Amino acid sequence: MEKLLAPSILSADFSNLANQIRYAEMGGADLIHCDVMDGRFVPNISFGPVVVGAVRKSTHLPVDVHLMIKSPENYIEQFAKAGADYISVHVEEVVHLDRVVNKIKELQVKAGVVLNPATPLSTLEDVLSIVDFVLLMSVNPGFGGQSFIPYVLEKIQRLNEIRTKRSLNFLIEVDGGINSKNIEEISRAGCNIFVAGSSVFKADNIVEAVAELKNKISLE
Ligand code: DX5
Ligand code: ZN
Repeated sequence: MEKLLAPSILSADFSNLANQIRYAEMGGADLIHCDVMDGRFVPNISFGPVVVGAVRKSTHLPVDVHLMIKSPENYIEQFAKAGADYISVHVEEVVHLDRVVNKIKELQVKAGVVLNPATPLSTLEDVLSIVDFVLLMSVNPGFGGQSFIPYVLEKIQRLNEIRTKRSLNFLIEVDGGINSKNIEEISRAGCNIFVAGSSVFKADNIVEAVAELKNKISLE
């Protein structure tokens, strides 16, 4: 299965966003990950559809929108219109998950569901057959630059096993604390889409940082 690197612009220099995205693209990034936060579902505020639209204009890469907001179902169309190619919503927030996943798919956008570190995989048992991807948080959402929570590694393996056992083909995305030291073991556990914020955009050389991470996952 594919191995895709998704730099998260949350840690980028927003005064120079288009260039920072260009550097990530030059290094071999596959997607651009956008963290939307509302100060309610998570304690931090980031950006909304306007910035996602600006990202869309700065790159040809697919745009991956991770919604950490209250009532995400009310904003799906707006983010699809802004240029999202992937949209994911948290299961902790959405009551009618089947409806929201279908709404995303109807807009020709890839639909993902996100689990916080402490939310069990069992919450996804029924919806797994209709999602395009599952995003496992490996930090508590809200901030860049946190450390990977070790027990999530085993959770990735378990989800990978479920996928194989049930012959499903959703992708597994992992988000939080990924760096050049741990990316290989996360890859071996079964991850397909690797979100990396600070290890890309806080690096001295963004192009090289992306290339190094990419190189490590393509060896798998
Ligand atoms: C956290 C966000 C992440 C964040 C990752 O709430 O969802 O995408 O940007 O940042 P790092 O890679 O620095 O942990
Ligand atoms: Zn994210």
